[in-house]
Amino acid sequence: MNYDPEKNGKEGYELAIEKCREKLLSFPRVKIGDCTLYQGDCLEIMPLLPKFDAVVTDPPYGISEAAGKNKSRGKLAKATDYGNASWDDKTADDAIDLAILKSGNAIVFGGNYYDLPPSSCWLVWDKLNGSNDFADCELAWTNMKIAVRRLTYQWNGMIRREKHIPRQHPTQKPIEVMKWCLGFLPNKQTILDPFMGSGTTGVACAKMGRKFTGIELDPKYFDIACERIEEAYKQPDLFIEQPKEKFTQADIFEEAK
Ligand SMILES: C[S@@+](CC[C@H](N)C(=O)[O-])C[C@H]1O[C@@H](n2cnc3c(N)ncnc32)[C@H](O)[C@@H]1O
Repeated sequence: MNYDPEKNGKEGYELAIEKCREKLLSFPRVKIGDCTLYQGDCLEIMPLLPKFDAVVTDPPYGISEAAGKNKSRGKLAKATDYGNASWDDKTADDAIDLAILKSGNAIVFGGNYYDLPPSSCWLVWDKLNGSNDFADCELAWTNMKIAVRRLTYQWNGMIRREKHIPRQHPTQKPIEVMKWCLGFLPNKQTILDPFMGSGTTGVACAKMGRKFTGIELDPKYFDIACERIEEAYKQPDLFIEQPKEKFTQADIFEEAK
């Protein structure tokens, strides 16, 4: 038998790609406009995806925020009961490391709960929270080479901006906050959020003309994200901003999207 290293190498590579594609397609997947949403564990799905221009995400902080805390906090009105879940009981260090490796830029909410390198640029969202046991600000770690930036955007139970948007997730972010984050990445067209929750990053991407890939483990939140992103594309106020550079990177999984 003739051994042809070039031919064998090529065949082995093609077989590996085919296996990855098959595995990726085995996860529930919904495509809405320029958004591709996967339901499953991001640690299993991310290795099967191509690289992204940026990851913009809000992972578990490891503070048990999903364990029914919200119910006991409402002072002005009855707080929503999101049930009792364990997804926020620990941080997702391996997944965050992988997401950063797969992406040029990174914005990671709750970065102060993760072991990330020193950075000149943290994004500070001041929630104008008044006096209660919620944090005054949320911090996003970034690898951008600019100074610290701050946004004030009120988000305190009943006293919050975006009151017309129903809260469907215990740690749902305001759309304007995620749009503010994307505004720091004007040339980044492909955006990953491996911890999509109710899909706020995807809604912001739809409104800003970015390509979005989202992953969510919980089927209930996955369905909510699909609905919200679909609605975002339907909204008459939709003003789609175009990123300044076109995405040129080769994408071996393009046909799987
Ligand atoms: C902090 S929340 C994100 C909330 C989101 N920013 C929003 O506005 O709705 C994190 C989400 O990650 C999901 N999650 C936790 N572990 C995951 C994993 N291994 N893979 C994918 N999603 C995961 C949880 O179910 C939760 O919905």
